[in-house]
Amino acid sequence: MSTMTLYHSPASPFVRKVLVLLHETGQTDRVALHSVQLTPVTPSTDVLHDNPAGKIPALRLADGTVLHDSRVILDYLDSQHVGEPLIPTGGARWRRLTLASLADAILDAAVLMRYETFLRPEDKRWDHWQAAQQEKIERALAYFESECLAELASRFDIAAIGLACALGYLDFRQPQLGWRERFPDLAAWYADVSQRPSMTATVPS
Ligand code: BEZ
Repeated sequence: MSTMTLYHSPASPFVRKVLVLLHETGQTDRVALHSVQLTPVTPSTDVLHDNPAGKIPALRLADGTVLHDSRVILDYLDSQHVGEPLIPTGGARWRRLTLASLADAILDAAVLMRYETFLRPEDKRWDHWQAAQQEKIERALAYFESECLAELASRFDIAAIGLACALGYLDFRQPQLGWRERFPDLAAWYADVSQRPSMTATVPS
C-alpha cells in the first residue's frame, strides 16, 4: 500500500533518479505518483503548497512531512529498505556522492540548455550561455569516460543512477550533442545499464 506521495513529471530527470532508486530497492509500491505540469515560470500550485521553491521531485511522507531536492529524497528512501544501501556508508561514500554530484551538474546544465531554447524568448537568448552549458556537460562526460568507468561498472549505485539518468536526459532533450560518438566507452556502459528494468520502466516522455 502506498504511504508516500511523489510529485512527478515523466520528463524530469531528477524525478527519474528517485523512480530508479525505488525500483532498484523494491519500494515502488510504497509511493503514489502525483503528476504535475510545471516550468520555472509556470509553477504548479500543488507543488508550491509543499515546496516553496516550486520544484520537483518533492516527496510527502505518511505523517505529512515533505522532503524536497532529489538528493535528500534519495538519501531518505535509501534509508528505508533492508538491502545493501545505494549510497555507501563506508569509505566509498564521499567518492560516490561526488560522482553523483557531477552527474547532477550534467543534468543542471542540460536542463538550463533546454529552458534556454524552450522557454526563453528568442530575442533574449544568449549563445555564449548555451555554449558554456554544453562545455560543462562535455568536460564532465570526458571525466567520467577517462577516470570512472571501472567505478561505474562496479555497482549500480547512487553515482551510476545519477549518470544513467543524465545520459538518458541528454538523449531525450539534447540529442544533437551526439555524446556517444565522442565517449564510446561511456556509451557501452550506458547501453548495458539502460537495459535494467529500473531504467526501461522510467524512460522519459
Ligand atoms: C523537461 O521537460 O525537460 C523537464 C521537466 C521537468 C524538470 C526538468 C526538465
